Amino acid sequence: MGVELLTTTRAFRRRLDVTRPVAREDLLDCVRIAVQAPSGSNRQPWRFLIVQDPETKQRIAEYYRKAFAANLTGRAIRPDQLADLSSGRYLAEHIHQVPALVLVCSIGRLPEPAAPPRLASFYGSIYPAVWNFMLALHERGLGSCLTTAHLAYEREVAQLLGIPFDEVTQMAMVPVAALRSGSSASSRRAPAAEVTMWDRWGGA
Ligand SMILES: Cc1cc2nc3c(=O)[nH]c(=O)nc-3n(C[C@H](O)[C@H](O)[C@H](O)COP(=O)(O)O)c2cc1C
Repeated sequence: MGVELLTTTRAFRRRLDVTRPVAREDLLDCVRIAVQAPSGSNRQPWRFLIVQDPETKQRIAEYYRKAFAANLTGRAIRPDQLADLSSGRYLAEHIHQVPALVLVCSIGRLPEPAAPPRLASFYGSIYPAVWNFMLALHERGLGSCLTTAHLAYEREVAQLLGIPFDEVTQMAMVPVAALRSGSSASSRRAPAAEVTMWDRWGGA
């Protein structure tokens, strides 16, 4: 793995090829790589629930679409957000066709009280694994996109999938498909120097 993979792994939506299956062994091998990620006290709280059943995907997609639409209601969209919005809509419309929907879950519920160190440990013990997973997928020609929209219906999706809601939190859903050819140019990001400070806040 190198800089190339790190800088070209994108939120793949339109390039997800919904016509090709994804092998279980590939998914499992990417989970193997995902779980090399760090976690607080090495708790390894992650669980990966991989949904491939068409009917179940359809049900999840309905929740996803509802939540995605609600997110947009009444929101002012900047011109530079239009392309992302259109690709987000595309994914919402096609998400049920994506061969694998990977729900990344964490053992435990959101810590109460939600003090910053506990929150950091809760989310921070999962998202590095999610990103490892996405990098591992991309390295073998699979595409994915980190999504959270369906979490507005976490309870309903938990019920649908038999996830014990009081003990397990859904953290993200990663649709996975083979990647159609196309360019994976590194994306619009602020230059490093613009987002970096030295010695003190604002220090140049
Ligand atoms: C915490 C988080 C939640 C996200 N939720 C969604 C989502 O629900 N749906 C979606 O299409 N993309 C979602 N994304 C993807 C972002 O839109 C994407 O990472 C960002 O626009 C950068 O895209 P790029 O790497 O292709 O430039 C999410 C990303 C993160 C990190």
